[in-house]
Amino acid sequence: MSEIVQDYIEDYLRGLIPADRPQIEEFRKRAIDDAIPIIHKEVQKHIELLIAAQKIRTILEVGTAVGFSASIFAQAMGPQGQVDTIERNLNLVVQADENITGLGLNHQINLMVGDAQEKLAELDKKYDMIFLDGAKGHYIHLLDDCLRCLKPGGLLISDNVLFKGMIATNELVIRRKITIVKRMRVYLETISNHPQLMTSILPLGDGLAISWKKDMETN
Ligand SMILES: C[S@@+](CC[C@H](N)C(=O)[O-])C[C@H]1O[C@@H](n2cnc3c(N)ncnc32)[C@H](O)[C@@H]1O
Repeated sequence: MSEIVQDYIEDYLRGLIPADRPQIEEFRKRAIDDAIPIIHKEVQKHIELLIAAQKIRTILEVGTAVGFSASIFAQAMGPQGQVDTIERNLNLVVQADENITGLGLNHQINLMVGDAQEKLAELDKKYDMIFLDGAKGHYIHLLDDCLRCLKPGGLLISDNVLFKGMIATNELVIRRKITIVKRMRVYLETISNHPQLMTSILPLGDGLAISWKKDMETN
């Protein structure tokens, strides 16, 4: 259960999503069994739709884990698509590399090892889409570099932004998560009111924010 959407709605919506190819289904099951926090199935489907509709060809991801979402994105874009993905946990990078190679997607996915803030600051590429799925308390610290690295008309997608409902109500906040909650609230207020962005926040999975970087020449 995501704790954002009621179980019966989530189960119904998931039931409507066609199965992925067996290798991907097995990958998802293995990650879940190993307690790796990967994207929710309905979030996956929504991003696959955005990739197709927006003809996304370049993606930067923060938070690779075992390479599940990076593989999904690479597959959704097709052989022309490129994913750069940042992960600081070396053990996970090794697993991601094995998984990505096993799926034959290593020519499309570039694993970048290190801290997201440092890696982002060094980047001088521009992407069609940036997927933020790292430490929730740091999205706000990555925002300026994300905007710099996002093409006009590109999408900034931020996952887990409702954080088990804690962001929306103090009643659910666990004491040791207070800093993360405060920072995420600032992040959501910032991207919702940012002059360069148009943002929609969906109660999908653990909360998904979709921000479109305005093409300032036409807006
Ligand atoms: C939710 S998991 C990513 C799941 C993955 N995107 C997927 O859906 O398959 C978050 C990952 O972000 C990594 N992470 C957190 N903070 C980071 C940082 N500052 N720099 C790089 N990686 C970070 C964690 O080690 C963890 O593996």
